[in-house]
Amino acid sequence: LIRCQSTSTEEPKTGNPLDKASNLLTNLLSGGNLGSMPIAEGAVSDLFSRPLFFSLYDWFIEHGSVYKLAFGPKAFVVVSDPIVARHILRENAFSYDKGVLADILEPIMGKGLIPADFETWKLRRKVIAPGFHALYLEAMVKVFTQCSERSILKIEELLGGEDLHGKKTVELDLEAEFSSLALDIIGLGVFNYDFGSVTKESPVIKAVYGALFEAEHRSTFYVPYWKFPLARWLVPRQRKFQKDLKVINECLDGLIRNAKETRQETDVEKLQQRDYSNLKDASLLRFLVDMRGADVDDRQLRDDLMTMLIAGHETTAAVLTWAVFLLAQNPSKMKKAQAEIDQVLGQGRLTFELIKQLKYIRLIVVESLRLYPQPPLLIRRSLKPDVLPGGYKGDTDGYAIPAGTDIFVSVYNLHRSPYFWDNPNEFEPERFLVARNNDGIEGWSGFDPSRSPGALYPNEIISDFAFLPFGGGPRKCVGDQFALMESTIALTLLLQKFDVELRGSPEEVELVTGATIHTKNGLWCRLKKRSDVH
Ligand code: HEM
Repeated sequence: LIRCQSTSTEEPKTGNPLDKASNLLTNLLSGGNLGSMPIAEGAVSDLFSRPLFFSLYDWFIEHGSVYKLAFGPKAFVVVSDPIVARHILRENAFSYDKGVLADILEPIMGKGLIPADFETWKLRRKVIAPGFHALYLEAMVKVFTQCSERSILKIEELLGGEDLHGKKTVELDLEAEFSSLALDIIGLGVFNYDFGSVTKESPVIKAVYGALFEAEHRSTFYVPYWKFPLARWLVPRQRKFQKDLKVINECLDGLIRNAKETRQETDVEKLQQRDYSNLKDASLLRFLVDMRGADVDDRQLRDDLMTMLIAGHETTAAVLTWAVFLLAQNPSKMKKAQAEIDQVLGQGRLTFELIKQLKYIRLIVVESLRLYPQPPLLIRRSLKPDVLPGGYKGDTDGYAIPAGTDIFVSVYNLHRSPYFWDNPNEFEPERFLVARNNDGIEGWSGFDPSRSPGALYPNEIISDFAFLPFGGGPRKCVGDQFALMESTIALTLLLQKFDVELRGSPEEVELVTGATIHTKNGLWCRLKKRSDVH
């Protein structure tokens, strides 16, 4: 499927700004200068023998931070440069849509925010984003804590009885546990539905996993055969997918009906100031239904809920999985994290205020997202001709691209770029504590926390788009703070009680990727009660 081509030998262009501008204009008028872009040379086996983002990284080191990758008749531009990423995601965001990604996700998410066309997105983003306001997030601390406690209780029960000296161990696939936990949290937080998946299986849970599995299959299968007429009836997995969607849709429709029947319409400001401590239903659905002037048909609401169910589930589970994977290989950092937990909350309960003091745990979460970004690639397609700026090195004068260019912004490459990170492949949560000075490379000024005052977690603004775990610009994740707090709490409560080690060697934990990076056969760990706390 991949067309291997020789690498461009063209010298990096320099010259005076007027020449550059006139080159670009000529290129733009002639339909783009993609032709002068370095072209990745690879073997088909690069694509199928390992996750695609690994090969994209090798080609980034070889060809530079903007290159072209050809799949048969199709070409992708791969971007691993913060300035170019910032241009595509923020500065010229509305010249791009989600391209291939929207094609894949539309049958599942309909007109939900991720695949939505611009007009729908503009209306719905305005309504959904205010739903993630400060009091809602504070109220979610209780949901995150209670759900995490269910997981902890389950592990304690598996360990059984008194074990003050932490001798008994239990072997568990923590990836599966985190997946159940994240599903329960998203169900309660977004539509006040308790899947209870930590402790049981149900047809709805099975259907959700079935739909996620299909979303993943579609994002890694290069021929969209499911679009062929009759495929949904003739291909068994597509038939199953339609059945799964029906089960989920019926569940969501019931919740929407119920929320609408108990609607108490009010202004957005009043909704944002509700007394959340006394609310029986603090969910986002409640907010969306009660908001005055945000009337929307049930179909759209269902698409929104489905989008958040999928966007907020596997992603968070993956962050927790990789955080544990990394900590288990760095016992001294695990001890450091536990020491912080003991000092901040001992064996007590978490509150919103206490999260602010869990600085090291928060950095572990973001460092895990740096090394294992979810998703590893952001996908875009240009809607009109555009000019990608020269990157931070200034060694090209930019590339003019025609309308319809498919782009991968490789977050994985940016997060492991040797140009921006010391020891890029090492797990060093402490790195975010260092506000780096300008390292002498024009256009790059390193971390600057003052760019995002009050932020609890490092973000794309502080790093000027070298670190973008939640994307950036107008299409940035709406659930970023929700997810970060959820991960911080779940990790804190796990480490508060248990020591965790991998059951086998780290090399045995094979990576696979779809929309997120996950393991091939689970994250099998050995857990025991901490013997140093009582
Ligand atoms: C968008 C990451 C959790 C809802 C995004 C994007 C990223 C991302 C990178 C931007 C995609 C793009 O530009 O193409 C993550 C990660 C999460 C997480 C790493 C967990 C650690 C959540 C949660 C929710 C959520 C918990 C909802 C409760 C969304 C939505 C969008 C989005 C609705 C689309 C926003 C728009 O286009 O306006 N997410 N996300 N995400 N995310 Fe998240």
